[in-house]
Amino acid sequence: KKSYKVCCLPGDGIGPEIIAEGKKVLAAVGAKASVEFACEDALIGGAAIDATGDPLPDATLEAAKASDAVLLASVGGPKWDSTDPNAPRPEQGLLRIRKGLGLYTNLRPVKIYDALVGASTLRPEVIKGVDLVIVRELTGGLYFGRRERFYDEEGAGANGGRGQRAYDTLEYREYEVERIARQAFEAARKRRGKVTSVDKRNVLETSRMWREVVHRVHDEEYPDVELEDLLVDNTAMQLINRPADFDVVVTENMFGDILSDEAAQITGSLGMLASASLGDGVSLFEPSAGSAPDIAGQGVANPLAQILSVGMMLTYAFGMVEEAGWIEAAVERVLNEGWRTRDIADENTSADHVLGTSAMGDKVVVAL
Ligand code: NAD
Ligand code: IPM
Ligand code: MN
Repeated sequence: KKSYKVCCLPGDGIGPEIIAEGKKVLAAVGAKASVEFACEDALIGGAAIDATGDPLPDATLEAAKASDAVLLASVGGPKWDSTDPNAPRPEQGLLRIRKGLGLYTNLRPVKIYDALVGASTLRPEVIKGVDLVIVRELTGGLYFGRRERFYDEEGAGANGGRGQRAYDTLEYREYEVERIARQAFEAARKRRGKVTSVDKRNVLETSRMWREVVHRVHDEEYPDVELEDLLVDNTAMQLINRPADFDVVVTENMFGDILSDEAAQITGSLGMLASASLGDGVSLFEPSAGSAPDIAGQGVANPLAQILSVGMMLTYAFGMVEEAGWIEAAVERVLNEGWRTRDIADENTSADHVLGTSAMGDKVVVAL
């Protein structure tokens, strides 16, 4: 019997609640496919700070590296929002594991389920047929640039300017843009053959390099793929205006962070948005949403993004494409049957069809 080691990182807030449902579904797929998935939990984020003082203990990174895939839920919460700039933050754990595993590609598929067309705040005719994927660069840009915060004794300018100063730098190397561009073009070839590259080249030097490199990779290696450029502010608007026109959207780390939460709302809820973080070694699978402190501990969080992330794990980490299809079909079936968590319920949902986190996971398992 085939066996895979999965490193599970529950993290904070709703993390432990939703990852439990992901594991349930993984176990059900394993039973059906005669594959063993051995899950072992490790600490990350605020939970790791509380236990060890470090948001990514060495033992966790080692466990992740020694596994066949990593399943992460979410990190962060008000408890660790210290005013001390030197205090460890849960989010550093996430950034460090992404960097530590070399996960430079983050795929965030945005697909509208027919049953959820009414759950979105956008009009049905606008979102019908939306099927796009955001390819977010994940280990460069603003998130990983040089940064500093200090008290400027000297100051400058007419008003003296003395006081605190802080900066973050946005930097990319050519090879980083090349490799994420290739990921986008490869994804497009398996989809509808169109890439939208998003930048801010009217202002940023990194964006001017980004656009040049993306075009060179396109012309030399992927002339068969349609390539369009869009400025990021315009993209934010077009995503709401004509979301069905997009196929693959490739962009810088922070632009991708912002655009993906925006795109999630097309599907009705951030709780639907799965993601895969890929590099050259072990991959990590995580919902795009956070620890949702406002609903943590209530058993009402939507586990579907976590469950769909398990589906992405089957495809990308284990090559179990057929089995991943089982998960997608099961989720679709549960939604078609009218089952909802609170975030995706609408005025047509009867009260007895609004489920808690665990009951939703159970429905998916039954459908499987
Ligand atoms: P959030 O994504 O946690 O929540 C935003 C809104 O979406 C909230 O109203 C929340 O209730 C809702 N939501 C999110 N996931 C949901 C789900 N599964 N089901 C139902 N509703 C859901 O963003 P935030 O509140 O800005 O951030 C909270 C914390 O999470 C912060 O500490 C942030 O840094 C962290 N965060 C972590 C990750 C991650 O671990 N990957 C991602 C984003 C934010
Ligand atoms: C995400 C999150 C993270 C990010 C934070 C928690 C570091 O918002 O995965 O989208 O910005 O990448
Ligand atoms: Mn985000």
